[in-house]
Amino acid sequence: MSRSDGSEVVRVMKNSLVPQDQTTLLEVPNLNDASLKSKLKQLVNDSINNNPYFAAGGGLMILGSGLAIARSVTIRLSKLFYNQMIVDLEIISKDKSYSWFLTWMSTYPKRFSKHLSVNTNYIKRDNGSIQTKFSLVPGLGNHWIIYKKAIILIKRERSGRMIDITNNSPFETVTLTTLYRDRHLFDEILSEAKVLALNTNKGKTVIYTSFGPEWRKFGQPKAKRSLQSVILDKGVKENILNDVKDFLQNGKWYFERGIPYRRGYLLYGPPGSGKTSFIQALAGELDYNICILNLSEQHLTDDRLNHLMNNMPERSILLLEDIDAAFKHRMAKNDDSGYMSTSVTFSGLLNALDGVTSSEETITFMTTNHPEKLDPAIMRPGRIDYKAFIGNSTLFQVEKMFLKFYPNELELCNEFLKAFKQLEVSSVSTAQLQGLFVINKDKPREALNQIQTLAFSNKLP
Ligand SMILES: Nc1ncnc2c1ncn2[C@@H]1O[C@H](COP(=O)(O)OP(=O)(O)OP(=O)(O)O)[C@@H](O)[C@H]1O
Ligand SMILES: [Mg+2]
Repeated sequence: MSRSDGSEVVRVMKNSLVPQDQTTLLEVPNLNDASLKSKLKQLVNDSINNNPYFAAGGGLMILGSGLAIARSVTIRLSKLFYNQMIVDLEIISKDKSYSWFLTWMSTYPKRFSKHLSVNTNYIKRDNGSIQTKFSLVPGLGNHWIIYKKAIILIKRERSGRMIDITNNSPFETVTLTTLYRDRHLFDEILSEAKVLALNTNKGKTVIYTSFGPEWRKFGQPKAKRSLQSVILDKGVKENILNDVKDFLQNGKWYFERGIPYRRGYLLYGPPGSGKTSFIQALAGELDYNICILNLSEQHLTDDRLNHLMNNMPERSILLLEDIDAAFKHRMAKNDDSGYMSTSVTFSGLLNALDGVTSSEETITFMTTNHPEKLDPAIMRPGRIDYKAFIGNSTLFQVEKMFLKFYPNELELCNEFLKAFKQLEVSSVSTAQLQGLFVINKDKPREALNQIQTLAFSNKLP
């Protein structure tokens, strides 16, 4: 059936069980009708607009997504701001400046710390007595300081899992955060911390020994030993000192010629003649520290020696004691017995000496009581450049030693020298002399009376 607007009306039965005469006419638009789509659209729009639940949900949805976008924009902006405006400096506990910084923080007045931890230090006075000093360093957590009008956030953190195997302590970091424009302050803080650390050791010689693969301070820094207190034979001390000073003043010369800037010294002679004492006094005179390695030490392997020699603390003299020990192990290794050395070998020592590649100067002192055991290969310039014999007491030394202990006793000194000559022993070490004078403090006459003991003081009764 056609309608006036052209649409078709289809007659269908609403319910087939309904009697024929009760049929209802349902008007179903023809599926081909072009206006079908727009009508449906209208229908949907009407139902949405007129449905209050639906309208409210849509609003919420728009609001929610708006907020989510705003949040992500804020996060991105703050990240951008953080990256552009904030700078971090991370100091790890393995770095030297870590302890410097913590000590500096403990003395800095304008700080806001709620969590502190204590560092106990022992300070050795000049008279040898020990004083305990506690310093409160920033503990784990956040701290603030105001440094040159800038606010700096300091965060000290400890890794729960990572352990520094060299000293068995947990791995830690300190992170300093400030505004980008104040980043230069990091440098200033670290410089101040370094100066503070170095000043603490002013007038002292720090002695380092090896601990595993790293250098560790051995005891408290010692008061510098004066060069005058070590009495070597005439001119020996002065000649070595002049040579070292000349070496230190000529860095440019070495670099210009591409020569490794290092110099090796060998002090050889009997025990107790003052070799180690002289090197310690020399370090004090030059304001250097000392790194001591004893080559006869078990478990000091070639690799460790090499590593240690290439990673020395700055301004340090390397002291290799008893280098003849390395030659002993070369013999043992060549043996067919299959012996495997856990100590330094001869080639290991040579490689380590040749391989020191420091941008700074390297002064190596080596000592031995048995120069005859040394292989000529080690005497090559570049390994050992200067050799000095430090022997038993000469008359020159006996006189100086006597007057060091009894300054005004010139007459007794002459008597002592005469008696010493009559002893006719060629091997009295300066350490033996010192022993005699120490047990006769302020009693030079007694020392003279006991001079005979020098002839056998190194022997068992
Ligand atoms: N020439 C010296 N002048 C002043 N003190 C000395 C001298 N020689 C030895 N002594 C004293 O004797 C002790 C031992 O000296 P030192 O350790 O320096 O000897 P060394 O030559 O290194 O011996 P070794 O070969 O056994 O290592 C120290 O207390 C030191 O003060
Ligand atoms: Mg010694």
